[in-house]
Amino acid sequence: MTGSGGLEGRTAVVTGGSRGIGRSIAERLAAEGALVAVHYGNDEAAARATVATIEEAGGQAFAVRALLGADGDVDTLFAGLRAGWGDRPLDILVNNAAFIDYGATIDKATPESYERLFAVNVRAPLFITQRALPLMRDGGRIVNVSSGVTWFATPEIVYAMSKGALNVFTRSLANSQGSRGITVNTVSPGITDTDMNMNWLRDSADAQRSVAAMTALGRHGRPADVADAVVFFASDDARWITGQTLEVNGGLLLGPPGER
Ligand SMILES: NC(=O)c1ccc[n+]([C@@H]2O[C@H](COP(=O)([O-])OP(=O)(O)OC[C@H]3O[C@@H](n4cnc5c(N)ncnc54)[C@H](OP(=O)(O)O)[C@@H]3O)[C@@H](O)[C@H]2O)c1
Repeated sequence: MTGSGGLEGRTAVVTGGSRGIGRSIAERLAAEGALVAVHYGNDEAAARATVATIEEAGGQAFAVRALLGADGDVDTLFAGLRAGWGDRPLDILVNNAAFIDYGATIDKATPESYERLFAVNVRAPLFITQRALPLMRDGGRIVNVSSGVTWFATPEIVYAMSKGALNVFTRSLANSQGSRGITVNTVSPGITDTDMNMNWLRDSADAQRSVAAMTALGRHGRPADVADAVVFFASDDARWITGQTLEVNGGLLLGPPGER
């Protein structure tokens, strides 16, 4: 996707569009011509910076705050969307916002950490989608951002469970919305350089080397690597693809490292 204008006249909302992978998705959807709602929870400065970058590049965007997991989160989000684009229908929903709790392991998870992870990573996308569907044009696009931890094991078991739920959500939803021509797909990133991984990846050359060693393409991901796949699913080119999960990870854990 290189900014060919294929999404002109479309509206898009990217949850967690202010930072990391979501920011890159928002920028690339806007580069294709979509009017993008950049959703965020706490970091207003990041959301404003993302909107400013989009506008400087000639795109259209606005920021929408809604703290997912809080009471009334879906109402707040949709009130902000209505303020931003009035009665225009929705074309593209990207359920990207999520967080990881490194303490929610099998030994240390609590009912509270479980509830919070599922409230943000599972409950919010479910009820955002439920609210979005009546506003969505037939032929719309839903892309859920999951994770490779649904198929490789990590200690953060509750986060992984939440992403497993999202994969199941994609399949059921795709089947139910096919009659409207709405496609629903999952993009499943590998290890990608964002704030989510800053405490172990960004500042550690050793960690970067070990990730590179288990990745066929020999490096960790950048947000744009993932965003391009999301924009593909949002585009007309992906019209005959639904209910699928695409691993976007540079060939993570394909097998024993070959000669490079
Ligand atoms: N980075 C990776 O290696 C990786 C790998 C696999 C999957 N993923 C998935 O990719 C997606 C994006 O991750 P990322 O690495 O880009 O994360 P990130 O850099 O930490 O950004 C997270 C985004 O989500 C928003 N967000 C988080 N919790 C929220 C809440 N309770 N309410 C509202 N907004 C909230 C943040 O907004 P505020 O800053 O305003 O709170 C921010 O915009 C997530 O679904 C993640 O699980 C990432």
